[in-house]
Amino acid sequence: MPVLTLQPSGKAIEVESGKSLLSAILAAGESILHKCEGKAECGSCHIYVKEGRKTLSKIQRAENEKLDSIVGVSSNSRLACQALMGTENITVELLSFV
Ligand code: FES
Repeated sequence: MPVLTLQPSGKAIEVESGKSLLSAILAAGESILHKCEGKAECGSCHIYVKEGRKTLSKIQRAENEKLDSIVGVSSNSRLACQALMGTENITVELLSFV
């Protein structure tokens, strides 16, 4: 299974392909805000994908529109609730802490 590495903690976990990054991050015991519970409405689960961005699921319209409204968005930004794990290893940086 592909490995998801989380920064800044450095924790690395195996994640099934097709699983949302938000659920994987929570399952790893890391703190990440997710105020709308995964509906692409709040933007609180914003993360930066440092490596492996291309293996993730493509950005859909709802995610794209929400990202457009978030301060601090970069070309590496994703919403953890919308990005689905692909088949290769990735590294993400968590930005919000509960
Ligand atoms: S949890 Fe609200 S946008 Fe991801």
